[in-house]
Amino acid sequence: MDKELVIVLDFGGQYNQLIARRVRDMNVYCEVLSYTTPLDELLAKKPVGIILTGGPNSVNLPDSPQYDKGLFEAGIPVLGICYGAQLMAWTLGGNVEPAKVSEYGKTDITVSNGSTILEGVSEHTVGWMSHRDYISAVPEGFKITASTAVCPAAGMENDEKKLYAVQYHPEVTHSVEGDKVFKNFLFKVCACKGDWKMDDFAETTIQAIREKVGTGKALCALSGGVDSSVAAVLMSKAIGKQLTCVFVDHGLLRKDEAESVDKVFGPEGPYDLNFVHVDAHERFYEKLKGVTEPEQKRKIIGEEFIRVFEDEAKKIGAVDYLVQGTIYPDVIESGLGKSATIKSHHNVGGLPDYVDFKEIIEPLRMLFKDEVRRVGLHLGIPEELVFRQPFPGPGLGIRIIGDVTEEKVKIVQEADAIYREEIAKAGLARDISQYFAALTNMRSVGVMGDARTYDYAIALRAVTTSDFMTADSAQIPWEVLQKITNRIVNEVDHVNRVFYDCTSKPPGTIELE
Ligand code: XMP
Repeated sequence: MDKELVIVLDFGGQYNQLIARRVRDMNVYCEVLSYTTPLDELLAKKPVGIILTGGPNSVNLPDSPQYDKGLFEAGIPVLGICYGAQLMAWTLGGNVEPAKVSEYGKTDITVSNGSTILEGVSEHTVGWMSHRDYISAVPEGFKITASTAVCPAAGMENDEKKLYAVQYHPEVTHSVEGDKVFKNFLFKVCACKGDWKMDDFAETTIQAIREKVGTGKALCALSGGVDSSVAAVLMSKAIGKQLTCVFVDHGLLRKDEAESVDKVFGPEGPYDLNFVHVDAHERFYEKLKGVTEPEQKRKIIGEEFIRVFEDEAKKIGAVDYLVQGTIYPDVIESGLGKSATIKSHHNVGGLPDYVDFKEIIEPLRMLFKDEVRRVGLHLGIPEELVFRQPFPGPGLGIRIIGDVTEEKVKIVQEADAIYREEIAKAGLARDISQYFAALTNMRSVGVMGDARTYDYAIALRAVTTSDFMTADSAQIPWEVLQKITNRIVNEVDHVNRVFYDCTSKPPGTIELE
């Protein structure tokens, strides 16, 4: 790629992909690399700037991630964030110590000393903090540019060497003027032009796929979700009927979802695709029997997906490539970027060690969700498909706490369908980023028509979020919740209670597994 590149060096923090998002939002291409990437490899990519991320460690511990001091001497601008800031201070001879009081959440910050990186930020601003250690002495040549009640050096910089650091997280939206930090770093310090454009992406990728696949055949794992649909249309534009799209109904889809996928991608739909619909629900239920641990479920479902594809590939014969709609957050959240693994997205972490295809093609691997949507619109995919709310690959398998049975799938499908119907009726669908019903696996006593019941509780989840990395629980009007509750309890067998999940992310996740 001959575009200007910023590297985000990942030290394991949970907000790392948000940093990459902020950079790309400013039309600067950026990639996330693990801190284990050797310096010469990193420099060979010719980055115009490097951002060191946060991370869960303490620089004073012997096994904590470090980086070659040469990084700070290469003449490339560096911005250190949280752990990255502490690492910069520590590596260059400053002091980092456990803070007397840890700071978590929104924190008042005072900006001082004519900082380059904080130019335009109010003298009294609010930043999102999450740290136990702090910089107690900045290295020689650095000046302090920000402080908090607890943290004497919440910002430091050495303008001459183009080294900058902030203890807080400007990438998180709770940091009210966070964007200014990135804007200053990218455009003032790194002199970026902002030449990353999504429209170029589709054309370049179609060309690259054509060259790679040649006359070979590819099989696309199509789920009907945004990512795999965009991947399928992109592939089909590149290689036409050399592509076969396989839609696996694992029996863990939402109510009526299989039919709607058939309608769009099947022979009656607008696309001229080789489309195969595989009903594999028995295979999946069998493999999931008695399994309760969510990570294990994810791995099983991921592996079974691949096995089904392999079987289909054998039927087609001589298929070299498997296409998946993996996107960048899947790659990073699966721990490949060395962030702490939260869960294995089935597209990546759930892959078995052995996959019987010559190669896996993931055309959207470097894109964030909103970027995928932009590509989708550019390719002429209908808006209702492009803006569908996300549905995880492992499907209802991870929205059922505990073991998965056909009966439980039915319960959660019915409850979810009612929930979706009522949210749409209330006109709330566009205001909520993602909402769904989950089965808690908790049974409790109730009374219905004078008789005792001992039935399941359904949990309703609804979140608002712009990036799906952090999220707030949506505030659904009480009367809407009551109506949904009444309908679910009355219409869905074996449910006698409904809960609403008020947890934000963090500390929760969006899915309830
Ligand atoms: P969490 O639960 O991690 O979810 O806060 C963040 C977003 O990712 C979706 N998600 C997945 N998407 N395969 C996917 O394609 C998966 O395995 C998967 N797991 C979670 C989730 O629905 C939410 O939008």
